[in-house]
Amino acid sequence: MSSTTQPHDNPRVLVFDSGVGGLSVAREIQRRLPGLPLVYASDNGFFPYGTKGELELIARVDLVMRRLLALYPVDILVIACNTASTLTLPHLRSQLSLPIVGVVPAIKPAAKLSQTGVMGLLATPATVARPYTHELIREYAPHCDVISVGSSELVHIAEQKLRGETIDENAIARIVAELMQHEKAHLMDVLVLACTHFPLLKEELLKYLPEKIQLIDSGEAIARRVEYLLEGKTIGANTAVNNIAVFTRKTTESERLAAALTAFAIRETHYPDFS
Ligand code: DGL
Repeated sequence: MSSTTQPHDNPRVLVFDSGVGGLSVAREIQRRLPGLPLVYASDNGFFPYGTKGELELIARVDLVMRRLLALYPVDILVIACNTASTLTLPHLRSQLSLPIVGVVPAIKPAAKLSQTGVMGLLATPATVARPYTHELIREYAPHCDVISVGSSELVHIAEQKLRGETIDENAIARIVAELMQHEKAHLMDVLVLACTHFPLLKEELLKYLPEKIQLIDSGEAIARRVEYLLEGKTIGANTAVNNIAVFTRKTTESERLAAALTAFAIRETHYPDFS
């Protein structure tokens, strides 16, 4: 895949995820750079990523990226999905010439933050199992105990929340209980939210977690990286920017996200053909 992407007159960034999770990253980018136009792309046609096989996921992300970048010229691509980033980044970087910012589990800052050396890792089952994640732990948290729980259920709950549906808080309580049943859980003082969907459930998670546990995710660091990469470019300071959402499939669920999307200054939704 060679990128035919031309730089846009004013910088524009593509934020990509399997669903609404990347909005937690978009939110951090908007906090830092409120005038930066975003294209938010959700591969809802292949959602969820966390239960997919590695080869099929690499092929899918490759296909969707080719199409998206041809349709929406951007200056930076943010893979706002831990599940995709921990698998597809080397492939994407070898194929595309634009800067790619990947979102990977915040193990390094969590290891620095933890006083007890016991941290939790909440991610999709795929991210928990990825060699990339294990490598991050070996490199940045070799002295830590990492209590990992993989959950796709939480991903679905985050989607429901953004569609304005009633969510099953008992399920959230159950997932927290699973994390807390580990023999060293009483020492846990940091929990890494290593799926971009999960910061969207921060309030709910905090209700069931012991108070001393701090939540950490990669959103803010990604926003800082985007800001750094755009240094020297002119970005409007106002918030009157009109962002675009792109879905790979039109569904009743995607249509029900309209209200939530307006909170991200997304007022235009596109459904290009991804078949
Ligand atoms: N939001 C994605 C992540 O950060 C994955 C959700 C999914 O399973 O599709 O891992």
